Amino acid sequence: MMAASAPGKLILFGEHAVVFGEPALSTAINLRAEVYARPHTEWLADGASLDDPRFRYVKAAVAKANTDGPLWIEIRSMIPSGAGLGSSAAVTVATLGALHGLRGSIEAPAIAREAFEVEHEVQGRASPIDTSTASAGGGILVLRQPRDGLLWSIERDQRKWFVHRTALPPLDLVIGNTGISAATGPLVAKVKDRVDRDPRAGEAVRQIGEITLDGVRALQRKDLVSAGKLMDRNHMILTDLGVGHPSLDRLVEAARPSSYGAKLTGAGGGGSIVALTDRPSVTAEAIRAAGGKAFIVQSDSLGVAKLG
Ligand code: PMV
Repeated sequence: MMAASAPGKLILFGEHAVVFGEPALSTAINLRAEVYARPHTEWLADGASLDDPRFRYVKAAVAKANTDGPLWIEIRSMIPSGAGLGSSAAVTVATLGALHGLRGSIEAPAIAREAFEVEHEVQGRASPIDTSTASAGGGILVLRQPRDGLLWSIERDQRKWFVHRTALPPLDLVIGNTGISAATGPLVAKVKDRVDRDPRAGEAVRQIGEITLDGVRALQRKDLVSAGKLMDRNHMILTDLGVGHPSLDRLVEAARPSSYGAKLTGAGGGGSIVALTDRPSVTAEAIRAAGGKAFIVQSDSLGVAKLG
């Protein structure tokens, strides 16, 4: 038997813009997916066929990893799916971790590359931020150029993303999940369509890139007031780009009085918000009172790892 785990993630700044090559900042969180792989007489995932649409990412990961014999794969995940928290990336990375572990060692850079290919095949247009964060753990800064802290670069369709390790101070983060599940692929396609048609949308994407870099600097000097204001601005621009939702606005409004700032996180259209706060239980209560599910999370420095 071989088992591996990988963390979910929160994008603190830069979702959607990162697909166009703009900077983005994410952190792995202490909600993890675990995947167990045991040799078996036929390929199964949680007792069902890999052809079941629930297992599209697992099936694509199995095809990528070139595994020999059939396996019984079992998935256990703490990460709500369709919530903008990187659940499919974590399951993909943990599956690849278990499959690589059966053949030898678990190397995060190789897994990050394969997981990005899997996500691209299953989801369509994507950036490597989710899969690289699930592979590396900790704080991740994706940039157009390499600088100190470079972990790896990933290239696709004439675009190249440089994935960096970045040190973040300990942060209290609260996730507010709207309970509305929204698929990432169509939202990414919607933003691309806007950018192709409207130069103001292209400008908004560039502004998000600048907000991200300002946000990284604010967090690194522990200026949570400025970081929070930048999160609020990032939320407004994402909403203007068409990936907001009234229930996201409701949760953001509920979280703000007890937070430095709050924004949608991940693809939007539903999914979740993230609030930066030093009163996490007050913020979580406010989100619940506004009809959301709330989770208090911390950064997790552990990326893909062998279990047991
Ligand atoms: O909703 P999630 O967790 O799949 O995050 C998507 C992040 C996007 O920037 C919208 C897409 C991407 O591939 O970077």
